[in-house]
Amino acid sequence: MGKTQFIDIHSHFVFGVDDGAYDLNASMAMLEQAASLNFKTLLATPHATELTDDEFNLQLLNHFKQVKEAAQKEKLHVELFLAAEMFFSHRIFDWFSYSWSTFNNNGKYFLFELPLFDLPEGVGEFIFQARLKGLVPILAHPERYRYLHDKIDKLFTFVQQGCLIQINAGSIVGQFGSSVQSFALKLIKSGMAHFVASDAHETESRSYLTLVQAREELTSILDDNALHRLFWKNPLNAIQAAEVHSFDLVEEHLMSKPDKWKKMLRSLKNRLMP
Ligand SMILES: [Fe+2]
Repeated sequence: MGKTQFIDIHSHFVFGVDDGAYDLNASMAMLEQAASLNFKTLLATPHATELTDDEFNLQLLNHFKQVKEAAQKEKLHVELFLAAEMFFSHRIFDWFSYSWSTFNNNGKYFLFELPLFDLPEGVGEFIFQARLKGLVPILAHPERYRYLHDKIDKLFTFVQQGCLIQINAGSIVGQFGSSVQSFALKLIKSGMAHFVASDAHETESRSYLTLVQAREELTSILDDNALHRLFWKNPLNAIQAAEVHSFDLVEEHLMSKPDKWKKMLRSLKNRLMP
C-alpha cells in the first residue's frame, strides 16, 4: 500500500479562496501530507460559485502561484495543476473564459457539482451543450446527491450523454453515511464511475489519507487494472486531455427496472462500439 502512487483530480489546497485551506501554512500542510502518501500530481479544484468574478480569478491565480512557489522552495515532489469545481448554475458557461475552468487549461475536461438537496432543471441540456463545444464534463461526487439514489437512471442518462463520474474517497470509506457509501460502491461495481478523488479540504478528516484508504477498501472488489484506471490512468489522462476509459457496464448492479436497463445498456453499447 505504501508504494502505490496517486494522482488526485479533486481537492481544495489553494488557500483563501473557498472552504479548504485557510492560509498558506494550511496549504503547505496539505501538500506535505500528499507528498508523504506518494501523491505525484494534485489538481486544485476550488469552488467556483455564482459569486465568482474577475476578482476571484485574480486571487485564485495569485494564491495558486504562491502555493506552487512555496512547494518548490520546500522541494516537495508533487506536481500541481489548477482547475475548479464549478457549481452548476445558469452562469456556468461564463466561467469558461477563465484559465482554471478546464484541467490545467487543457480546454477539454472540467469538474462540476450539483446542489446537495435538489436536482436542478437543465443538467442534461448543459451536458449536451458542453459536449457540443468539445468539452468533457466530470460530475463531482454524484453519490452525495441523495436525490439520485433512487434515480440512477437519471445519472445513467448523463453518462450516456458523455458526462464522466467522479466518486469521493470519503464516500467509499463511509464518511458521509451508509446510504452514500452503498451508492458509491454501486456506481463503482456497475462500471459507471471513471475516477475516485480525495476532495480533501484539510489534513484531518477530509484529507488525502482517505484516497489511500478508499483504494485499500476497493482491493476486495476490483482487480489491479481497475484500481490503476480509477486512481491513476484516468486522472492522468484527464489532466493531459487524453481519452478517459470507461468500464464495461455490469448489468446486475444497474438494478430496479431490468427491461428498461437492458434497452439503455444495449443503446449505450452500440454507441460506444468503435
Ligand atoms: Fe470539492
